[in-house]
Amino acid sequence: MAGGTRKVTVVGAGNVGSNTVRRIAEKDLADEVVMIDIVEGLPQGLALDINQSAPVEGFSCHVTGTNDYADTGESDVCVITAGLPRKPGMSRMDLLEKNSEIVGQVTEQLAKNSPESTLIVVSNPLDEMTYLAALVSDFPKERVMGMAGVLDSSRLRYFIAQELNVAPRAVEAMTLGSHGDQMVALPRHATVEGKPLPELADDAALQKLFQRTRDAGAEIVGYLKKGSAFYAPSSSAAAMVNAILEDTGDVFPTCAWTTGQYGVSDVYLGVPARLGTDGVVDIVELDLNEDELSQLREAAEAIRSKCEELSTAQG
Ligand code: NAI
Ligand code: 2OP
Repeated sequence: MAGGTRKVTVVGAGNVGSNTVRRIAEKDLADEVVMIDIVEGLPQGLALDINQSAPVEGFSCHVTGTNDYADTGESDVCVITAGLPRKPGMSRMDLLEKNSEIVGQVTEQLAKNSPESTLIVVSNPLDEMTYLAALVSDFPKERVMGMAGVLDSSRLRYFIAQELNVAPRAVEAMTLGSHGDQMVALPRHATVEGKPLPELADDAALQKLFQRTRDAGAEIVGYLKKGSAFYAPSSSAAAMVNAILEDTGDVFPTCAWTTGQYGVSDVYLGVPARLGTDGVVDIVELDLNEDELSQLREAAEAIRSKCEELSTAQG
């Protein structure tokens, strides 16, 4: 961290971006957070508003709102939330073309101004946008990752807690694979108050919870009509920022570059990853059965084929 200060840039002052900034500031996870957007005045106004809550909330982190990448320079971590969200009836993949343009431009600027930073991509479609950020930045792959698994796992933990009438924090569960229909749930690795999940709910009930988790983003889009979820997504992104800045070594389901783990190579995929100052420190290999492995590999191949299209389009 430059001179011992912790600096984070969040690109996009929309719903996810501004809430990520607010959570980082309120928890004093960094000394400075820069929020940047193409809309003039938006990040400046939101930054001022958040800063004016500091005396009440009791934080000392400073938020800078800007439209100029020079202000983002030398950030330790950059979070990319710029891009269009879904509207009802749209899939995340429907955002591919427009968001590729945005994420490509944003990444170029971040790489120029913060060449030593770690990038966390949030924009959708998540797995493909993470790959694009790695391609454009040309950063070491461990310093580019995507946020989706923390969100999907948190949603699943919440749904299990509701179903079994326990506190959400009593549930441990992780989802892998892609941020979408090919999310892989791992009931054998999930616990509730320390007890294995499969002992507490039958398979039909579990499959319903898994499907609700796969569809959780769309469920919220359906209610909101315009725009998509942002409270749980911003919590998830801020948790990953904290792990990197504090070098915690905690394991998060992360969209990370695979190098042979689970029999998968050279593709960004949702896997359990230990996060620290250097980004993805390592990928943890859980004991998966044949069915779980084949679901994970299918998700990897679907992501790979979309990324190949992206590479071709990038020339
Ligand atoms: P939003 O529409 O509220 O905010 C997007 C912001 O990006 C806007 O303020 C817009 O002006 C800005 N923007 C557009 N082009 C830009 C550029 N070139 N440079 C800088 N800023 C630019 O959308 P929201 O709800 O914040 O979602 C942002 C993205 O995150 C969407 O693609 C959404 O699908 C995705 N998302 C991903 C999640 C995940 O789990 N990975 C969860 C929730 C959202
Ligand atoms: C979600 O899952 C839109 O990907 C976002 O809520």
